[in-house]
Amino acid sequence: MPNPSLLILPGDGIGPEVMAEVRKVIDWFGTNKNLSFDVTEDLVGGCAYDKHGTPLTDETMALAQKVDAVLLGAVGGPKYDDLDFSVKPERGLLRLRKEMDLFANLRPAQCFDALSDFSSLKQEVVAGLDIMIIRELTSGIYFGEPRGIMDDNEGGRVGVNTQRYTTNEIRRVARSAFELARKRGNKVCSMEKANVMESGILWREEVQWVHDNEYQDVELSHMYADAGAMQLVRWPKQFDVIVTDNLFGDLLSDAAAMLTGSLGMLPSASLGAPQENGRPKALYEPVHGSAPDIAGQGKANPIACILSFAMALRYSFDMGEHADLVEGAVEAVLAQGLRTADLLGDEGKQPVSTSDMGDAIVAAMGGN
Ligand code: IPM
Ligand code: MG
Repeated sequence: MPNPSLLILPGDGIGPEVMAEVRKVIDWFGTNKNLSFDVTEDLVGGCAYDKHGTPLTDETMALAQKVDAVLLGAVGGPKYDDLDFSVKPERGLLRLRKEMDLFANLRPAQCFDALSDFSSLKQEVVAGLDIMIIRELTSGIYFGEPRGIMDDNEGGRVGVNTQRYTTNEIRRVARSAFELARKRGNKVCSMEKANVMESGILWREEVQWVHDNEYQDVELSHMYADAGAMQLVRWPKQFDVIVTDNLFGDLLSDAAAMLTGSLGMLPSASLGAPQENGRPKALYEPVHGSAPDIAGQGKANPIACILSFAMALRYSFDMGEHADLVEGAVEAVLAQGLRTADLLGDEGKQPVSTSDMGDAIVAAMGGN
């Protein structure tokens, strides 16, 4: 069996420093579990633009299509704010998602026991929280045509984006949600705005169709996305799996992330359909952004990126036990009281650095 292959794209801002900690975890598996990965590293986002004039070269895109999994840090930064839209760092990420056809974006929001008093919500609202948002990632208003900024023929301009979903696009992400729910709490809540959007009506009907024809054993409910946002903050534990479109998923997953106390804790997986070898095309990345304000200072929390690698072990390589090991080590260091700066309130405690946090997690995994 060849080694599993990984393409690592650290990207911009804190991306490289959190990814350096992931490399320690990857190396740990080589030393301790006889599990070596063939790792290639490349550029995406602003750093790719600086070197090549594009946020993602065709060569990097081709590599991403070939490997078993892509790990990405973060893209973007104020330095690139004035770039033309077509070469903004974010376009690199969107191109990867679109061309790899990564339609199902899994964003878990899990509250670690050690951090349940850190959420801005009451402890009883978030303690033990474990929900999964599945965001459609390759269609909807992010990609719909027509789009652009045009003359409105009255002397002004008009900005246009199009929300567009097809039966197939809705059904395939709904199936991902139902499959995942079966392995968890067996409940799916679908969110749209069927009260004001035709695409929302179709979304609701198609999710219901998939349920009635293929997943009657899973409990399905529907909610308008605004009410869903409210319920997420009011009593998030009512949810198990939430499935929603690209834009609502972007917003709802940030809200859900904050329930857990820190955006610096949350990983994500973006998956395509299974390929011939049984593996889906896959990209793993932390939910947090590039945080340019703290980049290069050793303040960033590497946990979201490390947990993203754990998701790769689980969803690309079917190595659930190895994923458990990484997640267990994260829980252990948090229980020991180790905190990066983002996880400290006003208690006046000393934060640990990015690399100390990575070292502690690797140490908690045991072995050599
Ligand atoms: C996310 C981010 C991206 C998005 C940006 C960086 C393009 O906010 O992954 O949630 O809007 O999808
Ligand atoms: Mg977002």
